Amino acid sequence: MAQDLAHTTDLLVEALDRLEREFAGLPSWTPQIPGEPQMAAALAEAARRLGDNYPYFHPLYAGQMLKPPHPVARAAYALAMSLNPNNHALDGGRASSRMEIEAVREIAAMFGWSEFLGHLTSGGTFANLEALWIAGQMAPGKKVVASEQAHYTHSRISSVLKLPFASIPTDNRGRMDLAALESALAAGDIGTVVATLGTTAIGAVDPLNQILALRKKYSFRVHVDAAYGGYFRLASNLDPESQRAFELISEADSIVVDPHKHGLQPYGCGCILFRDPSMGRWYKHDSPYTYFTSSDLHLGEISLECSRAGASAVALWTTQRLLPLIRGGEFSNGLEQGREAALRLYNLIASDPRFIVGPTPELDIVVWAVRAATLAESSQRAQRVFDRAADQGLHLALAHLPARFFPRAAWSDVTTESTVTCLRSVLMKPEHLTWIDEIARRVQQAL
Ligand SMILES: Cc1ncc(COP(=O)(O)O)c(C=O)c1O
Repeated sequence: MAQDLAHTTDLLVEALDRLEREFAGLPSWTPQIPGEPQMAAALAEAARRLGDNYPYFHPLYAGQMLKPPHPVARAAYALAMSLNPNNHALDGGRASSRMEIEAVREIAAMFGWSEFLGHLTSGGTFANLEALWIAGQMAPGKKVVASEQAHYTHSRISSVLKLPFASIPTDNRGRMDLAALESALAAGDIGTVVATLGTTAIGAVDPLNQILALRKKYSFRVHVDAAYGGYFRLASNLDPESQRAFELISEADSIVVDPHKHGLQPYGCGCILFRDPSMGRWYKHDSPYTYFTSSDLHLGEISLECSRAGASAVALWTTQRLLPLIRGGEFSNGLEQGREAALRLYNLIASDPRFIVGPTPELDIVVWAVRAATLAESSQRAQRVFDRAADQGLHLALAHLPARFFPRAAWSDVTTESTVTCLRSVLMKPEHLTWIDEIARRVQQAL
């Protein structure tokens, strides 16, 4: 780990020197650093404590949605820490606010938008909160609907915003069921449909094409939660149906994407985009303490959060400078490798009769159950595989999923409402592709 970062550390030192020269005109001073003599010991203790974690950086960590930030993002974040800018107002982060505006413009361009309103947030939940907050302003009292597989926070956010919320059932591949959506729309009380492009559990992609067709018949806002999947817009190896959904994102009213998931960023980096720049009017407020240094836009004027890490914007800007958000580039190749790894793992597991695979991965997430006579036994075995795999150094995840995501005859006691605990692997690192045979071997050994 330290070796991998040695080169980046040298680059960081050079960049820090460069930054220091920008402030060379200041009179010399001696910073007061409380506790300085004990710093080394405190850091060593922190390093020891951090050892009690799964090795998220290693390809044998193939469990939850955890992707190591790019070394340049880490270095740029650390570089910005020497100033610790606050992107609430230009008063607190002039350069980093401009970098945020540029980086967000590049994300919007990835979705085909040149005119829009958008900014970074502390994460996907807050970005979705802003989307639903605006949705509530546009259609007061009207319902928000999202699929049963949508992120759990949509119903919570709706309740915080005092907006009625309903779940729409999914098909057997975890995608929003269109017949169910249409019958809900027929009641005439739905203001917003949340389409998830890349569900958290299995990476399912809601049929945006048909959802947009329904919007022509029943008028409603379409909010795309692409917190996880958004960057797959750049991948060219998706199934045609999923590919189409990603192409149509530009038709949405609002989009959420999380740079801290697939965008190689440290945590604390989500992004909300609105197609209509005039949505800024809902954010209008005064701040009696800030917004004084410039009449240019202060990002706090178009976001719900006040203080936000300018360092997040600097890390994102630098990463996108290195790895532009284009098809056929190094960044999109990495996403394609994850998708290929998922298909390969899916096929390897499907060929082992002791397992039962779930829906074919649409992105880079694979789910599979363990064969057994009953659902309870299957769930117990999945837990055992999870534990034994971890003992062998392979870290997977578990998920409770509807049993109907698996072949009908898989268990003797399935009803329409049954759920099963199954294994789940999120293959976010490009290195997963070269490790996939080893991962499959360890899965098989763990049974
Ligand atoms: C589809 C989706 N939406 C929203 C979220 C919430 O994002 P965050 O954890 O950044 O708040 C997640 C998190 O996994 C997600 O997968």
